[in-house]
Amino acid sequence: MTTQTPALLIDDASRHYAGTPAPAVDGVTIDVAAGEFLALLGPSGCGKSTLLRMVAGFERLDGGRITVGGRTLSGPATHVPPEERRIGLVFQSYALWPHMTVAGNVAYPLETARVPRAEREQRVRAALDTVGLSGFDARHPAELSGGQRQRVALARCLVMSPELVLLDEPLANLDVHLRAAMEEEFADFHTKTGATMVYVTHDQAEAMALATRIAVLDHGRLAQVAAPRTLYREPATRMVAGFVGQGAVVDGVVTGPAADGRVRVRLFGAEALVRCRTGQPEGQALVCLRPEDLEPAPDGPIAATVVRAAYKGGFVLVEAEPQAAPGVRLLLRVSGDAQVAPGEALRLAVRDGWVVPEGPSQERLTPARE
Ligand SMILES: Nc1ncnc2c1ncn2[C@@H]1O[C@H](COP(=O)(O)OP(=O)(O)OP(=O)(O)O)[C@@H](O)[C@H]1O
Ligand SMILES: [Mg+2]
Repeated sequence: MTTQTPALLIDDASRHYAGTPAPAVDGVTIDVAAGEFLALLGPSGCGKSTLLRMVAGFERLDGGRITVGGRTLSGPATHVPPEERRIGLVFQSYALWPHMTVAGNVAYPLETARVPRAEREQRVRAALDTVGLSGFDARHPAELSGGQRQRVALARCLVMSPELVLLDEPLANLDVHLRAAMEEEFADFHTKTGATMVYVTHDQAEAMALATRIAVLDHGRLAQVAAPRTLYREPATRMVAGFVGQGAVVDGVVTGPAADGRVRVRLFGAEALVRCRTGQPEGQALVCLRPEDLEPAPDGPIAATVVRAAYKGGFVLVEAEPQAAPGVRLLLRVSGDAQVAPGEALRLAVRDGWVVPEGPSQERLTPARE
């Protein structure tokens, strides 16, 4: 990658809470470039908040190191307290002071840092302007919408000009429309400030929309870190394939050597050509099929039955069961004009797909292998 010092380096970091059976964060390594917008994605309990709290300094590490701008903040013999880390924090519960005005809330960290009054006022104005809240200075939090309150919290974080901003599910309290509007604001804010951002969410659409790269955590471990497109098209594990984007992960057999990034696979008794990493071995494999990889075709090689069809506006999302694999559910989209009903027979062609490098599911292999 780059030879520059990463803005944030999480190096083999672990945290095991006392009395719990497994580490909450287990040997995670991620480097975040200056100005990058990294999303931390994963299901509830996978360790996202713990990892963020480790970076912020609220959690000590049980192993590994965290450096910001080349300076070690957490390590075997180091633990810089949170207030000395110069890291901006925005959490889900934005905790504004209810008795203070908007301007008062935003000015608070500057007062704590003994910034002189004139400079303080100027920086508060600039921060409120950045989040689109000029003119709201004298309001109290109770007189604001949820989205506006969230923006005040963002301004309060911005006002310190942090080089690194950590956000933990900052939109989780907001309704769908407000979330969409705030997503744009975060993107704008990121462009305007050039700050390095680490953004925790369990909402993959939010992560896709905002992040330059997404790190997926699975039971405290880093499953994959990649650009949104790569994560969607080339998931490294079954978990990532299932968690990011729609589709199915199915068993197949690679029947020939990889060439030009593709291999032949046998799926439900039919042959298909799908994408794979270089050097994909032959044999049992997991194949990720996104809805756009499957197409109904009169002469398609896979016989299937429609299990469910849901009109989504513009298209119908079809769940289909291959006749050769009862219980497996494939997803595909058909034109909104098409009449598809459960129980109908369907023939499918596989246009594309991806061999998941992780290989067939561990739990269904003989457990004695490792
Ligand atoms: N203070 C704590 N003491 C003990 N265990 C904890 C503590 N905080 C979190 N955990 C456990 O650590 C694991 C990771 O929790 P964490 O809060 O980091 O998950 P998360 O990915 O942020 O989940 P969510 O999406 O629900 O916020 C969970 O199993 C959780 O129960
Ligand atoms: Mg959390």
